[in-house]
Amino acid sequence: MPATDTADAFVEFDRVQKSYDGETLVVKDLNLSIGKGEFLTMLGPSGSGKTTCLMMLAGFETATHGEIRLDGGEINNIPPHKRGIGMVFQNYALFPHMTVQENLAFPLEVRKIGKSEREEKIKRALDMVQMGDFGGRRPTQLSGGQQQRIALARALVFEPELVLMDEPLGALDKQLRETLQFEISRLAHDLGITVVYVTHDQTEALTMSDRVAVFDDGRIQQLASPDVLYEQPENSFVAQFIGENNTLQGTVEEMSGSRCTVKLANGETIDAVPVNVDRPGQKTVVSIRPERVETNLARLGEGAHTLKAEVLEFIYMGDIYRTRLRVAGRDDFIVKTRNAPDQPRLKPGETIEIGWLPDDCRALDV
Ligand SMILES: Nc1ncnc2c1ncn2[C@@H]1O[C@H](COP(=O)(O)OP(=O)(O)O)[C@@H](O)[C@H]1O
Ligand SMILES: [Mg+2]
Repeated sequence: MPATDTADAFVEFDRVQKSYDGETLVVKDLNLSIGKGEFLTMLGPSGSGKTTCLMMLAGFETATHGEIRLDGGEINNIPPHKRGIGMVFQNYALFPHMTVQENLAFPLEVRKIGKSEREEKIKRALDMVQMGDFGGRRPTQLSGGQQQRIALARALVFEPELVLMDEPLGALDKQLRETLQFEISRLAHDLGITVVYVTHDQTEALTMSDRVAVFDDGRIQQLASPDVLYEQPENSFVAQFIGENNTLQGTVEEMSGSRCTVKLANGETIDAVPVNVDRPGQKTVVSIRPERVETNLARLGEGAHTLKAEVLEFIYMGDIYRTRLRVAGRDDFIVKTRNAPDQPRLKPGETIEIGWLPDDCRALDV
């Protein structure tokens, strides 16, 4: 349940800035409201400020400017262990000299929870991550995936309302990562926990999250649900960072409400949605997803512009065909088509015509 305004926000960053050296801001004017029970992911390239934001929320770093609020109260001056936040990091951070049970008991002892209640909570948390039989082992006697399950159980054992996770699956192989992605988001939703999750993996962000905040250079570039982020990127950075995109450079020729026409470098004209262009003469990069390019022109509307394309490469991938084309002077234009009986397998050297629905083509900043 996305927080649409700050009134029902559970976590709030309000004009937060952070500098480590007193000169450069690595977090620049961060405003973000996260709803109770929401799974929010901070996604961005390395160095974009994600971990810094999480550390400020956890209390291990202080904000240089601005306010961070939890459940309506300011927490800038509350020490980490008093914030009631569970945390999971990439490198497990389990205590190596303690058994699994002792690792889980630790956050409960810190909170002065009695023995019998402790045992009950530990059992429940271990069962939750399907590790009930491993309580007596030490971390070195567990695989990476098992250790990460224990780290997750330890973050959940004291039933925090907010859990922060920083690239928790980064060290695991692909299959295990996908299993745990599913388990973590299911657990979070079942328990009604608010999660702030950090990753640089866009697939992980799209599959797990209610909303994703795309970070670059210390700023949120776009904050939206996965489908909106993928289908309606608001700028070139987001369009390029999330999924695959074809881009063509051109100049806005005409504006008319929700449509513009763009003249490409080779003189051809295409239709697009003006996203961050607003007048003729502006330079733009138009972006179009490989799966939204039509080779069956009957599907395009009356009067739609089409382009000539030369087939350079055709790759059979089983479920889809991936075709590389030369379009408007570029030779990296990709089209993905579903493998279907009526879908032609194109041949290198062929010249074809392509087009797309103007709604799927976005005129963005250069
Ligand atoms: N403890 C620190 N001291 C100084 N600079 C830091 C520290 N931690 C991170 N930085 C710098 O802050 C920027 C953002 O880092 P970080 O928040 O770790 O990004 P991310 O998690 O997105 O990779 C980077 O330029 C990084 O070098
Ligand atoms: Mg990081």
